[in-house]
Amino acid sequence: MNETMRVGIIGGGLMGREAASAFGRWFVLENFPVQAQLVAVCDLQEKLLDWFRKVPTVRLFTKDHQELLRSSEVDVVYVAVPHNLHERMYLDVLDARKDLLAEKPFGIDLKAACRVRDAAGKSGCFVRCSSEFPFLPGAQRVIQAVRSGRLGRTLEIRSAFCHASDLDPDKPVNWKRQTKFCGEIGVMGDLGMHAVHVPFRLGWKPLRVYAQLQKVYPERPDGKGGLAMCDTWDNAMLHTEVAINGEEVPMRLEMKRLAPGETNTWLIEVLGTNGGARFSTKEPKTLWLFERSKEQSWQRIDLGHQTAFPTITGPIFETGFPDCFLQMWAAFAAERAGQLDNRFGCVTPDEAVLSHLLFAAALESHAGKRVVSLSNS
Ligand SMILES: NC(=O)c1ccc[n+]([C@@H]2O[C@H](COP(=O)([O-])OP(=O)(O)OC[C@H]3O[C@@H](n4cnc5c(N)ncnc54)[C@H](O)[C@@H]3O)[C@@H](O)[C@H]2O)c1
Repeated sequence: MNETMRVGIIGGGLMGREAASAFGRWFVLENFPVQAQLVAVCDLQEKLLDWFRKVPTVRLFTKDHQELLRSSEVDVVYVAVPHNLHERMYLDVLDARKDLLAEKPFGIDLKAACRVRDAAGKSGCFVRCSSEFPFLPGAQRVIQAVRSGRLGRTLEIRSAFCHASDLDPDKPVNWKRQTKFCGEIGVMGDLGMHAVHVPFRLGWKPLRVYAQLQKVYPERPDGKGGLAMCDTWDNAMLHTEVAINGEEVPMRLEMKRLAPGETNTWLIEVLGTNGGARFSTKEPKTLWLFERSKEQSWQRIDLGHQTAFPTITGPIFETGFPDCFLQMWAAFAAERAGQLDNRFGCVTPDEAVLSHLLFAAALESHAGKRVVSLSNS
């Protein structure tokens, strides 16, 4: 271990604390070139700042993100706040010349994403956006299968991220259900990056989209005995086409808050003329590989803890959410240090802007009930 990456977190809620957990067990990474240390935290809520007091390396606790950004002890900032604050916070991080791991979406809309991407380019800072599921062993094996070329001519692609808890009409509202905080793109901003990261990285960029968007419950309990308005898109199905080796291939992207029975289910399926590959977090140890030889067969492979960045965890054990989140941070740190080599990396600013181009086209498609072309130039 040599270089130390000193991290500050802005937004110590669900994801801010998940990041703290990743830094807290950084030592499980084997022969990793970078140390990581959480040194500063900013949140508006006293009780969350108090939670971080049990992390011994944190020296700065503040409610003012500018105070965190002024600290010369912070090299990298992770921002995990409501979407309406993303652009301002990301630009402030870049103005302070800190490197950034931005939570998705990369700004509340396309214009914001372009401004952040341009500012990132000018600043020279290292900037990536969050998306952790591709770092699961099953996802990595699907990527390998595609890159091997053994699937033959691609027939279709499906990539999805689905939740079910919003099926309960009594689930209280939060900022993610309101457009002014979550953005016009709604569930696409919330879950969409998870569905597009692998396809984009494999070079599958939608040529056009036909979108089906749904709003389901217009109101939810406000947690204070009343009701609050919910006006974001809850479910989105994006029917797209991508060009692969000169052929157009259907790619369906799904992001849903009301998907019966799906608790944080991330899945990817790629079918070709000679083979196929499928992985879902619903069966986190299982990789399905299809092969067409004399007979056609789906092979079920039991996976272990085989991660891109090796850890002390035995290869026969299972992998879970905290593991892929740690792997994502390892990819961020390795790439920042110029040592990603051929491994899979975090979402780039250009990929994040492309996701917003797609989501903006999806809004247009749904409003006009028509297919919308995307210019990827
Ligand atoms: N990568 C993932 O799997 C994943 C999962 C959930 C959420 N997210 C993303 O993470 C981000 C945060 O979501 P969350 O679920 O952690 O939300 P959350 O509501 O649990 O946490 C947000 C935190 O931001 C704090 N905050 C608000 N305004 C602030 C300000 N001005 N300065 C400092 N702190 C402020 C709040 O007090 C809160 O603690 C969002 O962008 C969301 O889309 C990512």
